Amino acid sequence: MMSAKSIPVEELDEQQARLELARLAAEILTHDRHYHTDDAPVISDADYDALKNRNRAIEEQFPALKRKDSPSEHVGGAVQDRFEKIAHRVAMLSLDNAFSDEDVIEFVDRVRRFLKMPADAPLAFTAEPKIDGLSLALRYEKGHLVSAATRGDGSVGENVTANARTIRDIPKALKGDAPDVFEVRGEVYLAKADFLELNRRQEAEGKQTYVNPRNTAAGSLRQLDASITASRPLRFFAYAWGDASVLPATTQMGVVAQFEKWGFEINPLMARFETVEGLIEQYRRIEAERASLAYDIDGVVYKVDDLALQARLGFVSRSPRWAIAHKFPAETATTLIEDIEIQVGRTGALSPVARLEPVTVGGVVVSNATLHNEDYIAGIGSDGQPIREGRDLRIGDTVTIYRAGDVIPKVLDVDLSRRPADSKPYLFPQTCPVCGSPATREINEKTGRMDSVRRCTNGLVCPAQAVEKLKHFVSRNAFDIDGFGAKQAEAFYHAGLVKNPAEIFTLQQRDDASELQKLKNRDGWGEQSATKLFEAIEASKVIDLHRFIFALGIRHVGEGNAKILARVYHSARGFVDAMTAARNAEGDAWSDLVNIDGIGPTVAHALVEFFGEPHNAAIVEELLVHVQPNDAEQVAADSAFAGKTIVFTGSLERMSRDEAKAMAERLGAKTAGSVSKKTDLVVAGPGAGSKRQKAIDLGVEVIDEDEWFTRIGS
Ligand code: IVH
Repeated sequence: MMSAKSIPVEELDEQQARLELARLAAEILTHDRHYHTDDAPVISDADYDALKNRNRAIEEQFPALKRKDSPSEHVGGAVQDRFEKIAHRVAMLSLDNAFSDEDVIEFVDRVRRFLKMPADAPLAFTAEPKIDGLSLALRYEKGHLVSAATRGDGSVGENVTANARTIRDIPKALKGDAPDVFEVRGEVYLAKADFLELNRRQEAEGKQTYVNPRNTAAGSLRQLDASITASRPLRFFAYAWGDASVLPATTQMGVVAQFEKWGFEINPLMARFETVEGLIEQYRRIEAERASLAYDIDGVVYKVDDLALQARLGFVSRSPRWAIAHKFPAETATTLIEDIEIQVGRTGALSPVARLEPVTVGGVVVSNATLHNEDYIAGIGSDGQPIREGRDLRIGDTVTIYRAGDVIPKVLDVDLSRRPADSKPYLFPQTCPVCGSPATREINEKTGRMDSVRRCTNGLVCPAQAVEKLKHFVSRNAFDIDGFGAKQAEAFYHAGLVKNPAEIFTLQQRDDASELQKLKNRDGWGEQSATKLFEAIEASKVIDLHRFIFALGIRHVGEGNAKILARVYHSARGFVDAMTAARNAEGDAWSDLVNIDGIGPTVAHALVEFFGEPHNAAIVEELLVHVQPNDAEQVAADSAFAGKTIVFTGSLERMSRDEAKAMAERLGAKTAGSVSKKTDLVVAGPGAGSKRQKAIDLGVEVIDEDEWFTRIGS
């Protein structure tokens, strides 16, 4: 008999599912113990995640079978709940990545553009290795270590103070003069030799060996018993900071030099450069030394050296504009394309996926790779230029694939010498493989070229799009309804129970009135799970506005844009009305929308198109009958500019338009590109023309750039 372990989730019957859940609960528990208690994982993170995912998928398919000791209830292992939480006063951010020299050049150009700096004005950066460990925030008050917190989700971390005190690179008191408050941040890591020695010892004692230094460092730091941490030779490099009552220097280099005086280890390969060529040379030097370094690194981090410039540059979503991580090339492997399948996404995009002969890349088994779009398969890049020197990809081809970070693996190149003699170019479907409607490529307005993505043209009837929209609507960062995951979305859709998002909220009412089969009598459901689902649907009705906007699944409106729109339009009604009004391309609503910093014409068109489709508009209205999104909070409510609409016009001399807008938005203001009755303030530089005049005509206050700086106090 085939063991339940190898049956795809969709094909499990109830009895097999029950057995599988029991087996998975036991297996996951064993791995949790290996990882957290014994600190000796025996499988890779990816394999562990695969077990958890399978468990979750079965639970979603058979909600009634969910066990009391379900592994889904202890997220990421029990440890995370055992430590106290510490809220970071200054968020711990992540870094954007650069994968090529061009990306680095573009980063430096972007910084210059933002700061309105000419190409020849001096601008210095630091370059230093990106340590492959885990970040830690150390808070010193009057020079004494008072707390240590892991990164966690960036806002809240785990309190690992007792453990951090056992790490010899972490001073318990700072040497010399110290500020009242200073939070030193850096990376905890395990040296390669110490990792190997630890494994030798484990082996000699007949114990499990560890997977890699980073994992072991993380497991070692997050021990409830600090004496275990003490027995591991963890180390620490200081490279950044958070909350600080005063800064000891005005440059990145200067602060890090002070770290060393305070008694920290700093990375000896950190250096300062005034040209992008210098940065890239340092990257090559560090890459060449990589294998001989005592610790693992996975790239080089560049940071703007001048802290005043860092402050002006600020952040975009979770990453600073003033830094980037230049990653080393990802690991590659060679395998065979067994098949090419087409998936239809939420917006109708036909996405080709290569089914691969399974192969290991960097310790993870890979059996799929994205092929992006039909041009990519044909050997044409998004700029219309050849990629892989124009070599196309075919079923039966031998390809090199690579995996960078956690993203879906990609195809790097194809080995033509191993192409079967009878292979044929891949014919990309011209119709939607799900609904059969024509699939077309639009002209991209920006480039004037044909878009590389082919889309199903029948969004309203295509079941693939409807199901994907529904899945998106209930996904974690959208409505996140307990017991209503991707599997249920699919099952409910195909059973005709929920055909669109609004129908989720009438499900119970229809179920109550139903003379057909009630949910509790359906396969995989019961009284209790049905009641729980209805409760979860009820609970999801109170939702933040940005999640509501994100949930609608509008093209180009991801979480970031949804947050911007929520902040600008404040309420669901305000948002919907403005989007409807924006259909008039001559009106204020359109120009307000298109001028929101970070929105732009592509997103604006997508929004107008979405709300212009009567079917969508009707569903949104129906949703608003059931759901009450919370109004978005005003940011920086104590600033004099909170909630005000400001227009910058004419040429600004002290900063770029982008920087001026970012500054106004940090103060809670909304920036617009055109003047209307709703404008509160116009900042006009030299050369301002019709906008200044319109402001004067409408009686809107107009000030110059100097006055603006006076008012914001800088
Ligand atoms: S700077 C605001 N410098 O990389 C940016 N990070 O993706 C603060 N990391 O979570 C980070 N080496 O754990 C910085 N020399 C280095 C680093 C480094 C490793 C890690 C860090 C952070 C992640 C960012």
